[in-house]
Amino acid sequence: MTSIVTTNVPILVSHSSSLVSRLLDPGFDLTLRPMRYPQFYEMYRDAIRNTWTVEEVDFSLDVNDLRHKLGPAERHLIERLVAFFATGDSIVANNLVLNLYQHINAPEARMYLSRQLFEEALHVQFYLTLLDTYLPEPEARARAFAAVENIPSIRRKAEFCFKWMDSIQNLQRIETGAQRRQFLLNLVCFAACIEGLFFFAAFAYVYYLRSRGLLPGLASGTNWVFRDESGHMAFAFEVIRVVREEEPALFDEALRHDIVRMLEEAVDCEYRFAEDVLSGGVAGLSLRDMRQYLEYVADLRLKQLGLPARFGAGNPFAFMDLQDVQELTNFFERRVSAYQVGVQGEVTFDAAF
Ligand SMILES: [Fe+2]
Ligand SMILES: [Fe+2]
Repeated sequence: MTSIVTTNVPILVSHSSSLVSRLLDPGFDLTLRPMRYPQFYEMYRDAIRNTWTVEEVDFSLDVNDLRHKLGPAERHLIERLVAFFATGDSIVANNLVLNLYQHINAPEARMYLSRQLFEEALHVQFYLTLLDTYLPEPEARARAFAAVENIPSIRRKAEFCFKWMDSIQNLQRIETGAQRRQFLLNLVCFAACIEGLFFFAAFAYVYYLRSRGLLPGLASGTNWVFRDESGHMAFAFEVIRVVREEEPALFDEALRHDIVRMLEEAVDCEYRFAEDVLSGGVAGLSLRDMRQYLEYVADLRLKQLGLPARFGAGNPFAFMDLQDVQELTNFFERRVSAYQVGVQGEVTFDAAF
């Protein structure tokens, strides 16, 4: 919101840094100097350094694996995964535009959200390319997009998302404590449950297949998506940390209870999806382990939200341990530095990097 001056006195000055404004105070703050939340600006810059493109992903070996190496149970797993991926990131992107962008009131934070929106579009493009590659028949492709309506285990997950999206869709301004808690629950749902649990469960299936030497194209693209999603979560958790610091009263017992209940519901939703995904009996990937993995990840998210663990589960998947390490170490460093050069404009279109 820009200032409206009727006399010499601005009556709406939400862009002014001279007032003590908080991150969730309504408005469209425009002031970048002094910058209230430099950490969001740094997250934006970090994200820019990690730019990748779908064209870099080579799916050629995957097609051979799909035709010759996967059995019926694994093919079912892949079909369900592709069907989930077909719409998952579009739902996240819609919530970002319709809800998060409106209410997180700092221009540097909105820069990050703009960048995140691009990344979500990139993920949509990645999964669309995957779907077109894996499912050559137009009917199969259409079925994947209809899964959000027709396949109960996927519909249940979508309904979980829509419930939290709809709950704040009509709020133009979040003024009261109750409205701000509702907003925080939306943010927790999208960061901790959808990006942080549903997507991480999907990554576990992908990395399980990679551990058996299958579908390397899917795994390599997933590395990039994994890194992006980790960034999206880090941003959301930082927003929540800032809000807690600015408005500690919002984080009452009822909110904490709602968050834990939401995580339990997300684990349940994802477990029901796992029952479907693994219904053919995939060797080396048991439902019991999947449940434990979901509980382990849910505990991680609670910890990131500053809450105690709910399940006390350890990670049963060694191949995901490796991924967690890769997320934080120099796995991407070679590419990151290559792109840092690109960002500085020193790379031409035909340069090999
Ligand atoms: Fe995404
Ligand atoms: Fe995301």
